[in-house]
Amino acid sequence: MNPSRIIELLRSGEANQSALVQGWVRTKRESKELTFLEINDGSSLKGLQIIVGKDLPDYADIIKQITTGASIAVAGQLVDSPAKGQRIEMQADQVTVFGTADAEQYPLQKKRHSFEFLRTIAHLRPRTNTLGAVFRVRNACAYAIHRFFQERGFIWVHTPIITASDCEGAGEMFAVTAMDLANVAKVDPKATPNVANQSSQSVDFSQDFFGKPTFLTVSGQLEAEIMAMAFSNVYTFGPTFRAENSNTSRHLAEFWMIEPEMAFCDLEGDADLAEAFLKYIFSYVLENCPEDMAFFQQRINDQVMSNAEKIINEEFERISYTKAIEILLASSKQFEFPVEWGIDLQSEHERYLAEDHFQKPVIIMDYPAGIKAFYMRLSDESTDKQTVRAMDVIAPGIGEIIGGSQREERLDILEARLKAKGLDPEEYWWYLDLRRYGTVPHAGFGLGFERLVQFMTGMSNIRDVIPFPRSPQNAEF
Ligand code: 4AD
Ligand code: MG
Repeated sequence: MNPSRIIELLRSGEANQSALVQGWVRTKRESKELTFLEINDGSSLKGLQIIVGKDLPDYADIIKQITTGASIAVAGQLVDSPAKGQRIEMQADQVTVFGTADAEQYPLQKKRHSFEFLRTIAHLRPRTNTLGAVFRVRNACAYAIHRFFQERGFIWVHTPIITASDCEGAGEMFAVTAMDLANVAKVDPKATPNVANQSSQSVDFSQDFFGKPTFLTVSGQLEAEIMAMAFSNVYTFGPTFRAENSNTSRHLAEFWMIEPEMAFCDLEGDADLAEAFLKYIFSYVLENCPEDMAFFQQRINDQVMSNAEKIINEEFERISYTKAIEILLASSKQFEFPVEWGIDLQSEHERYLAEDHFQKPVIIMDYPAGIKAFYMRLSDESTDKQTVRAMDVIAPGIGEIIGGSQREERLDILEARLKAKGLDPEEYWWYLDLRRYGTVPHAGFGLGFERLVQFMTGMSNIRDVIPFPRSPQNAEF
């Protein structure tokens, strides 16, 4: 018999049907005549209740081996369940134990563990209810993202992880160092945390390897622009890296980004896409992960459903940066960071706008040129308050979730902008070529994937929505 996924049985299994399930034991309750097991295979929040009767051959021996965390397979008959909250359960005919789990040692005890503790056992936390639900929803978001773009004819492009350019110009990159590991292995990594400094024993040939210093990418945008100049509409979906102070609940040193890029598109079209995109993903996840979403609402954050409904049903507010500053100046709230035209909006400002003032998602457009990256298009009206065609999408409860812009497509202005930002136009010869040969207005944005999952699930720390979080002092394996 082929094994069934537990979610399929819970949703549409019928009494008297025989089935085979495999998974990990979550709970075990023994009574005189029988033992109740709950087994979970990761396909759903709830496991399947199994009833093992004393008439099972070798009952005592098998039950002794089974504790929380053990891996087992059970063949049996589905029966209607008299218990509350479940339609069916399984009467076991045959139980196979694959791997036991020492009940004394197993780190996941039946009590509720803190998320801080669970981060120290990242190899076991996917087996908990909350992390299980998070990673299923994360998967559903990823699938919905691909569906959204593929339905609209966007081409998925793969941009490099090792790069020589700093897209955001913030200087927050990780350097790539090639090392002769055969030599480095002789150095005890525990005794010398920075093995690269052991120059007598390690060989850094990265300069020779690529011919110039290289880094882990902070964004695939510049390369996505190249591809958009051939395919019109493209998107990236890949890991990005930032060596910024990521000791907050919203920053990671390694995170995933989705970056659509559209030729023949301006900032308004970009904002339209961002809004349609978020609406699509939220609708998809509510429809396809109802149990997990109900769990987040009940157990994690009671704003989860109302935030999702706002994204789906409300038209996002669109305001200029200048207007945002006016609203902040007019508010009676005391902000930690003083407000004036020209500042980079802090998360307290963004949250005030989305949570207190508009109480819905807000798209802020046309930021001061001085605080934004070189590639953003200078606005046509020139005033002493020069702006660029940039936008941020701000969501209640999380703040910035998307950052994007219309790109500078005019060669002379782009060259001047590079120089003004202290960058060498020679280094960007290929990027400038796109403006020399068939340039078009174009725009795109970046969605931080973990910010999205965090917002969707209501989890308070971004480290709990990625399986293996990377943040300062934190890269266990
Ligand atoms: O606003 P950012 O820096 O924009 C870019 O990188 C552009 N090149 C995107 C584009 O136009 N194609 O980053 C985009 C998004 C942010 O809005 C945020 O959601 C997320 O990436 N992000 C982070 N997420 C987790 N940890 C960090 N350290 C992040 N930094 C940015
Ligand atoms: Mg940003």
